Amino acid sequence: ATYDETPWFRPQYHYTPKKNWMNDPNGLIYHNGEYELYFQYNPYGSHWGHMSWGHAKSKDMVHWEQQPVALMEADGVMIFSGSAVVDTNNTSGFGNKTHPPLVALYTGFVESDKIQDQRVAYSNDNGMSWINYENNPVLDRHSENFRDPKVFWHPPTKSWCMLAVLAQKHTILFYTSVNLIDWTLASEFIPSPSTGVSIEGNWECPDLFPLKVIGAANQIKWILKVDTSGNRTEMSRTGAQYFIGEFNGTHFVAAGKSQWLDSGMDFYASNTWNNRYSHDGRMIIIGWACNWYYSENIPTSPFRGMMSIPRVLSLLPYGDGLRLAQQPIQELQSLRGDPITFAPNPVVTADGYAVQFNTNHVRSLEIFLNVTVLSRDKLKEFGLKLMKGPSQELVIGWRSDDQSFFINRTASGIVDMAPHFPVVNCTQVPLNQDGRMWAQIFLDWCSVEVFVNGGVVTFTDLFFPDTNQDIMEFYWTGAKDAITYDLGGYEMTSIWK
Ligand code: FRU
Repeated sequence: ATYDETPWFRPQYHYTPKKNWMNDPNGLIYHNGEYELYFQYNPYGSHWGHMSWGHAKSKDMVHWEQQPVALMEADGVMIFSGSAVVDTNNTSGFGNKTHPPLVALYTGFVESDKIQDQRVAYSNDNGMSWINYENNPVLDRHSENFRDPKVFWHPPTKSWCMLAVLAQKHTILFYTSVNLIDWTLASEFIPSPSTGVSIEGNWECPDLFPLKVIGAANQIKWILKVDTSGNRTEMSRTGAQYFIGEFNGTHFVAAGKSQWLDSGMDFYASNTWNNRYSHDGRMIIIGWACNWYYSENIPTSPFRGMMSIPRVLSLLPYGDGLRLAQQPIQELQSLRGDPITFAPNPVVTADGYAVQFNTNHVRSLEIFLNVTVLSRDKLKEFGLKLMKGPSQELVIGWRSDDQSFFINRTASGIVDMAPHFPVVNCTQVPLNQDGRMWAQIFLDWCSVEVFVNGGVVTFTDLFFPDTNQDIMEFYWTGAKDAITYDLGGYEMTSIWK
């Protein structure tokens, strides 16, 4: 039996494996009414190693059932990140048209010589068990750091497309295939430095997907996403960056600057669910809620690693360009329980006002903050303090002077696992014309996810409180009439088992 040594950190509605190490989501695919979630997994322990594909299934992306390990490290080859498709027309020949095979493309990491190559496996039993293709690898450049194949069907060219990174060359390679086995190099994408893209550390886990531009009739753009692992010495930024552009089946052309997908520290190696041309049309992304700066040191046991909540992506006009917005999947609303009601009247604090809510040991919450700033001059900042005690708090807020939205986890509990943990992350979020700013916040024991202004800005951050505090406080500093506000939310039903 598995038991939690740190039950006070166990997420109640985010996916976590029962035990052991987990990193990237892999092989995301929807078919037969089920969402598959594979993931980088160490079947033998709670540190990175023996990389294999763990597996969980769900009908709603909320209730997950862990399954046996799908692809095991074998013969000195680790199973690194990759993707999966439904081969509807049996182009690979691994099944038949009545029972189309699922086909996975993953990186084989050959431990003896550190070569990374691309390999194929297929499943004829709904993704439960996988058979490695006998002539693996299918793509071998005799190269190190060549990894993370994302494969999808491109209807206009009637072909399979693959993108993979040369991690240290900050290059994305595009391949095409008619059968998922024979791959032809189609192009290389190396963005110009004028896009502002970060090339600190490795580039990992690329993804490419189309979205309609909201408000523009039938305008489709392609989004190319790639993660940057950051530079440990300089502690540069880490996470997902994306380009918006055009894709014709072989070449991606970026327009404008690169943008960051999430403004927090812990949304990495994200990927979208495949089978996008047959499903309900939503483009859904999920990330590993961590990063490589401190993932080995987070104080949870016997599991180490959690996924973000799944999010629906959309593309909308923003400023003088376009921007991705993220929304929590609506399926999460099924977990809403008792409503949260803050104290009706604010109390006076040293430098402003505050209202509190006693969470009574419930640490899985969905919270809404809706604030209208009546006067920026009379306001210093407003925010929400979570798990607030004499010397502990996680603060999510907005500052008036530089119009920044921030998360401050410098005093959030256990913060000494790496220099990059006790930080304040912030990003500019100018007030709308009506002065309104709103945020939807998901708290789940050791994490917060914040969707600001409908998800045009998001923050994903882990935090590890070391004392059990039940006070949640909305505060503002400045004059009483600087803002008006509306607060609410729900306790979230625990589904961890
Ligand atoms: C990203 C990553 C991938 C690699 C995998 C190994 O987090 O480094 O590039 O395939 O993790 O576990």
